Amino acid sequence: MTTVENTPSTGRRDDVAERLLRSAGELSYDPLAEVDWETPLDPAHHGCSPEWSTLYGTSYWDEMTEEQRAALTRQEAASVASTGIWFEMILQQMVIRDFYAKDPTDPAFQWALTEIADECRHSIMFARGAQKLGAPAYRPARHVIEGGRVFKAVATGEAAYASILVAEEVLDVMQRDWMRDDRVAPFARTINNIHVVEEARHMRFAREETRERLEGVGPVRRRAQALLVAFAAYFIVTSMWSRKVYENAGLDPKRALREAKANQHHRAMLRSSCAELMEFLGSVGLLTRPARAIYRAAHIL
Ligand SMILES: [Fe+2]
Ligand SMILES: [Fe+2]
Repeated sequence: MTTVENTPSTGRRDDVAERLLRSAGELSYDPLAEVDWETPLDPAHHGCSPEWSTLYGTSYWDEMTEEQRAALTRQEAASVASTGIWFEMILQQMVIRDFYAKDPTDPAFQWALTEIADECRHSIMFARGAQKLGAPAYRPARHVIEGGRVFKAVATGEAAYASILVAEEVLDVMQRDWMRDDRVAPFARTINNIHVVEEARHMRFAREETRERLEGVGPVRRRAQALLVAFAAYFIVTSMWSRKVYENAGLDPKRALREAKANQHHRAMLRSSCAELMEFLGSVGLLTRPARAIYRAAHIL
């Protein structure tokens, strides 16, 4: 028997992929069957934990009725889910490209396709969820959509997997709160629960791939990739909460946007939820000085 420490990295990679495949075989969900799509939405229910609202802690929030707060968090949760769909489409294309014409007997190949199938189900689930929350289509700004179009066509290796990890980790911490919160609409809690369970495997794979592909990478490439990942993170995080949510929740959009932009509470929530992610990026050498500046600008460091 070989130990983890002296297992060659391909052996370790196979082990991880095989374990993930087994785990997916034991516990995966069909959201179309698992989520209660039928029961009508109760307007008293929130879309996410109120503490995660971009207005929580502002003077505007204090003036809002409980109903207005719930209406806002429903739009905000739909916006986050819609950004999730946008990124899951980027992610699926990057993984498909990465495994194009590779060895199908490789457990990592089979795992990658399993992950793509998960993401495809997630995106449908988020789309239906956002609709049920009464939200219109929320999409990132035009320049972000076009930037994403280029990124998903060219990003490879560690840059692809590290940015996948960033998106998944940021979402994960929030959804862990929301799935346990009985102020949140039950169907939305189920959606979050499904996503948390299945994404735990994705994050394991993304961490493994990032670490592996950075092995032996020189400083120039590492720095360049670190910068690319940080930019991807910036656009993912700053696209999560659409500025249109306030108007759609019936609020004064100017005042809401102004107070949300200055909301230190929300920034602190983001920063603390990304602590582990930053630790990982640091451990693999992706937290270079310019990258750190970008993470700070996105309020995740
Ligand atoms: Fe997902
Ligand atoms: Fe994922």
